[in-house]
Amino acid sequence: MTTVDFAESAAGPAKSAVIHGRARLLDACDDARAPVLFGCRAARCTTCRVEVLEGEGRLEPAGPEEAEVLATIGAPPEIRLACQAIVRDGAGRLRIRWIGPVPSDPDASPHA
Ligand code: FES
Repeated sequence: MTTVDFAESAAGPAKSAVIHGRARLLDACDDARAPVLFGCRAARCTTCRVEVLEGEGRLEPAGPEEAEVLATIGAPPEIRLACQAIVRDGAGRLRIRWIGPVPSDPDASPHA
């Protein structure tokens, strides 16, 4: 079980979620109505950029698409894409904060 704490951000107040087993961070965000905004949900727009404040080991390493996008924007290691990151199976705590950018797409929304 992983507890995910979403810090308050420009997208809303702090929230928490509990994840059982390996899961997409995206699904945890949707389930918790977390203060994280999404655009494409497909590793293209980078709207879902989050800073990992604690528990980076609870996430699997970035896959090829996420890693390529993060490299393109010159993101430091603590930055991940919430639409791509996978929470590992196991126990622990993860603390993240959405850092944007604020989407220019008027259809962008925090949750599907
Ligand atoms: S929502 Fe577009 S990259 Fe994650």
